[in-house]
Amino acid sequence: MYEDKNFLTIEDAHNMTEKENLRLFKKHISSQLGKTLSMLGFADSIPVEASGMYVTLRDGRKVLDMTGHLGMLVAGHNHPRIIEVRKKWAEEKRLESWKFFPSPYQGVLCNNLSLIFPEDLEVMFFCNSGAEANEGALKLAEKYSGMSRKTVVYTDISFHGKTHATLTLSGSEKHQNDHFNKTENCIMIKYGDIQDFKRVIEENKTGKNSTKIGTFIIEAIRSEGVVIPDKSYYEEVRRICDKYDIVLIMDEVFTGFGRTGKMFGFEHYGICPDICSFSKAFGGGKATFAGFITRPKIFNKAYSKMNEATLHSTTYNGFGEEVVSAIEVLNIIRDEKLLENSEEMGKYLLSRLQEVKKEFPDIVADVRGVGLLACIIFHSRAEKIVKFFSSTGTDLVEKFVTGSVITSMLKDYSILLNTPPHDSSQILITPSLIINREQVDYFIESLKKVLSENLWKVGFDYLKKLRS
Ligand SMILES: Cc1ncc(COP(=O)(O)O)c(C=O)c1O
Repeated sequence: MYEDKNFLTIEDAHNMTEKENLRLFKKHISSQLGKTLSMLGFADSIPVEASGMYVTLRDGRKVLDMTGHLGMLVAGHNHPRIIEVRKKWAEEKRLESWKFFPSPYQGVLCNNLSLIFPEDLEVMFFCNSGAEANEGALKLAEKYSGMSRKTVVYTDISFHGKTHATLTLSGSEKHQNDHFNKTENCIMIKYGDIQDFKRVIEENKTGKNSTKIGTFIIEAIRSEGVVIPDKSYYEEVRRICDKYDIVLIMDEVFTGFGRTGKMFGFEHYGICPDICSFSKAFGGGKATFAGFITRPKIFNKAYSKMNEATLHSTTYNGFGEEVVSAIEVLNIIRDEKLLENSEEMGKYLLSRLQEVKKEFPDIVADVRGVGLLACIIFHSRAEKIVKFFSSTGTDLVEKFVTGSVITSMLKDYSILLNTPPHDSSQILITPSLIINREQVDYFIESLKKVLSENLWKVGFDYLKKLRS
């Protein structure tokens, strides 16, 4: 029936030229995203291999990955132990979808997760992405809290995903999401501001110890900009949530599994959420895997009847290969002491970034970090220099600096960096937790050279491309 369709093959993909690759991307995926990637130099040469801290490009460049691919690489690219368990699973033709049989592999994973989460967090749900994990967590909290307490509180700087509900609750996406319908009964407060939280509690009180608010969702540490609330903030949040029986959801999609030097971001505060969502590092860069964990009290009240057992479910729920990958990831984190390395290398990286800030006060406004979650924030003073590109607007002027640094670091020093989605004056530095001192040093020395020598030239070339 389809004999006349000239399907391309995997071999065709291996051999595709850079030009054809970009053409297909722009035509079928996104012309604007394709343009951005090509401006940054990301479309110049196709990656042919990825291992540990490096991505090898077809033109022979070995690129040091300082992004950890949006922070999801906990143990580097293609960790041999994760490849091995996946290969073995496939070769032994194990059952992939455990829809009808209880899975002992999920049992092992759940057991291990319940050992690393505090208190009685031990009931979990698996899915495929961070947004999906948060959707499930929100539904659970709503069901637990009941019809009269449907109000959800979220924070002004936050990102929880791009499905409808998670988008409504992502404060950092607000300015660009007027096109989409919003979920009802959601109230935004200031991140890290306890008075604002107390204000909405007061405004929504229905009795001495009762409120319309049933759920509070927050990132323990805000990854973009590395915003770290005070310890007293979370202690007070926990106390208030306990008093009013508000379900505290902590989104550890970015910060979970060692990113901040501890297994979870909330551990910096000595508190425990009622539901914790996780993803990214959970799949070790090989599996698209996510989930949430909660207390039996919450899960059992929410889904208490037999006909409610699948009130929240998905087809792709804990596939075999994803599950064994996650089991292996946890073992690798422990065996290779990746939390310890995240803390140690994170401190070293931050101290070296502070050195960069001191040396380039006109370009670097601030540097921040906790564990291997770090960022550089640039001044937008470059505005003066690029006045004549007035039609590009301030946002693009900020991109002038970040864009120049990212382009130059890749082109001249083979280092991969990225800017977070909501603030183009920043570069986020989230390498895999296996990074060593020499790699940090190479990154810092290259950055210094870019900031002192190449920035303006590369920046102008970059802006020219922007206008073309
Ligand atoms: C804190 C946080 N929550 C949720 C998400 C959404 O995850 P996903 O992109 O897998 O849907 C992200 C993604 O970056 C995130 O950083």
